[in-house]
Amino acid sequence: MPDHHPIATLPAAKDKLLFTPGPLTTSLSVKQAMLHDYGSRDGAFIEMVRDVRRRLLEVGGVGPDRFAAIPMQGSGTFGLESVFASTVARGAEVLVAVNGAYGRRHVELARTLGITTHAVEFEEDQPVDPGALGRAIAEHPGVTHVVVTHCETTTGLLNPLGAIAGVVGEAGRRLFVDAMSSFGGIPIDMAGTPIDYLVSSANKCVEGVPGFSFVIARLEALRETRGWSRSVTMDLLAQHEGLERDGQFRFTPPTGVIAAFHRALLELEAEGGVGARAARYGANHRELVAGMTGLGFECYLPERLRSHIITTFRYPSWQGFSFERLYADLSGQGYLIYPGKLTRERCFRVGTIGRVFPADVRALLGAIHISAASMR
Ligand SMILES: Cc1ncc(COP(=O)(O)O)c(C=O)c1O
Repeated sequence: MPDHHPIATLPAAKDKLLFTPGPLTTSLSVKQAMLHDYGSRDGAFIEMVRDVRRRLLEVGGVGPDRFAAIPMQGSGTFGLESVFASTVARGAEVLVAVNGAYGRRHVELARTLGITTHAVEFEEDQPVDPGALGRAIAEHPGVTHVVVTHCETTTGLLNPLGAIAGVVGEAGRRLFVDAMSSFGGIPIDMAGTPIDYLVSSANKCVEGVPGFSFVIARLEALRETRGWSRSVTMDLLAQHEGLERDGQFRFTPPTGVIAAFHRALLELEAEGGVGARAARYGANHRELVAGMTGLGFECYLPERLRSHIITTFRYPSWQGFSFERLYADLSGQGYLIYPGKLTRERCFRVGTIGRVFPADVRALLGAIHISAASMR
């Protein structure tokens, strides 16, 4: 019998760099944090979960007196669904601001749960207009929750969260923010903004790996939801109370993923926090846009609406361009980009988040230059 598993002798392959909206490239040390077995009910793991929850509140700039960070097993959408499934009272209605695929998904999530849902729709290249949202709230007195996507990853458009929160707060409704692709990579002033529920996931700007999402919930809002859940597994208040009671998840947690995420939170702090990370992502984004523009590609959004999370480029008009070919060429060179998701325009996307740096973006641009030259 060999004294070790044969897979341990395989040489480590060099992973492709992920210029996508997630999962993202992670540090070696984040990956290494998964090389352990943890008992989910053991003290060491419980302590790690406690520290993850504490650090998430810190990243959000809030404290445990008024907020709780609640991890939820599953991808980001599971966290979103848990808020719809367990914090909206029977008979209450929700209003969703839609300017991309993720807004449309919120509508689908809520309607599937049988919640009366109103959508306020904007074009995909337009930000959510707080004034229009305010008028829609006034038209629907049964609405208790307003849902908005902070960075609409469909395009990379950054919605005006502060102004939206002002309108929703003034109207006395709960504000539910999908900050999936922005939390940890764009500063969000949760202490000064009337946000009741914010959802993100492990494999976005905190730079962990996929496997769970998390909700930062205002305790005053969360505590009124007792008995409202339409789901056992997705009951946010029960998940919170279980974690508060004995530090344990109610159902098997993704132990390795949480260990990686804990390591990722330490690395976020070591980098200098959200401000420093945003500065790195901003440098990546500027490098990308300057390089792509130089190569003749055009951004879908005007500069004032773009975020440093992900950038959408129109298919160029030159004959012979093929996204599939570009993708394959770049993949062959060790870089993964992302297809478009727009309803009306042919576009592709390049993410600038995760453990990637301006030098990596320059290397990607070199590979795009070669691929584009071969297609022209
Ligand atoms: C804004 C936004 N919402 C929701 C999701 C869905 O997350 P998941 O695919 O992890 O379920 C994403 C994923 O990229 C996103 O960017």
